[in-house]
Amino acid sequence: MDEVLVNEWFAVLKSEEVKEAPVQVVVMGERVVVFRTSKGIHAFKDLCIHRGSALSIGTVKNDTLVCPYHGWQYDSDGNCVCIPAQAKGASIPLKARAQTYVCEEKYGLVWVCLGAPAAPIPEIEPYADPAFSTHVFGPYRINSSSARVIENFLDYSHLMWVHQGYLSDPEYSEIANYGVNRVNGRLVTDEVTIFEFDFDDPDRALIPVVYVKEAYRPLTAFLEKRFGAGRVMCILMASCPIDEQTSVTYTVHAINFDPGEISEYMAVNDAVMMQDMVILENQKPEELPLDLQAELSLKSDLMSIAYRKWLAECGVKLGTV
Ligand code: FES
Ligand code: CO
Repeated sequence: MDEVLVNEWFAVLKSEEVKEAPVQVVVMGERVVVFRTSKGIHAFKDLCIHRGSALSIGTVKNDTLVCPYHGWQYDSDGNCVCIPAQAKGASIPLKARAQTYVCEEKYGLVWVCLGAPAAPIPEIEPYADPAFSTHVFGPYRINSSSARVIENFLDYSHLMWVHQGYLSDPEYSEIANYGVNRVNGRLVTDEVTIFEFDFDDPDRALIPVVYVKEAYRPLTAFLEKRFGAGRVMCILMASCPIDEQTSVTYTVHAINFDPGEISEYMAVNDAVMMQDMVILENQKPEELPLDLQAELSLKSDLMSIAYRKWLAECGVKLGTV
């Protein structure tokens, strides 16, 4: 397992997806069970130490996770507190434990880290600002590596092509020179102006929209779009590697203006994501190459180049999840 990514937080589910029943997710090839008790949300390795059953096909009862095979009950710290086959009062072996992982809820998502978190889940101001409404989109299960998905999110020059008719237009493809800066350990682009269809305009005129893209963590990125007249849209993207060629991605939008009917807004965002997925699922090699000579980059790709260099510097070894 990648020694760097093991210490990253990954968004694995929407909070609303975890109700009474435990849920299985896969993080870097590892099966994980997520469940909720009166104490909050918890994540364990999805494996009962007794006979290897998946705990995720069990139940949650009296704040314990009950294995479906022989009914062992694990409390939220992973300790086995009941073995039904034993005589009442018999001591429970100390080794009867579930492996626990750190787990938190933030931005309407459940985040899990398999190791020791290298950094907190990113704190992003607009998400705490009451002037913004937030909306969670996904899961997007994509047959592509998480790093390819994040790089696509950080890419400027595809917007007019892949999303033509939806977001922009090929006539406006030219990207002015921009810089990429390191700010508090993150990668942040200068402002980049993209001509986009105006949300509020029934004639959908193209207007200049100011973009700033940021790589927060190796597989968590952020985008701020300023439409003018104080209208701001933020998108947080978090991608969780299932394996080297499959990922699950969520986005959280924060908007300080009325985006219209929310189901329509959601449908447009899903459609935009589907357009990206067609590209992502057909890229070769499947994993993002960190060797800068492997593909041909231009000035307009500066953020992608910076992202690849940054991943290599962080010690991420793609292809080893
Ligand atoms: Fe879980 Fe036996 S396998 S209780
Ligand atoms: Co796109």
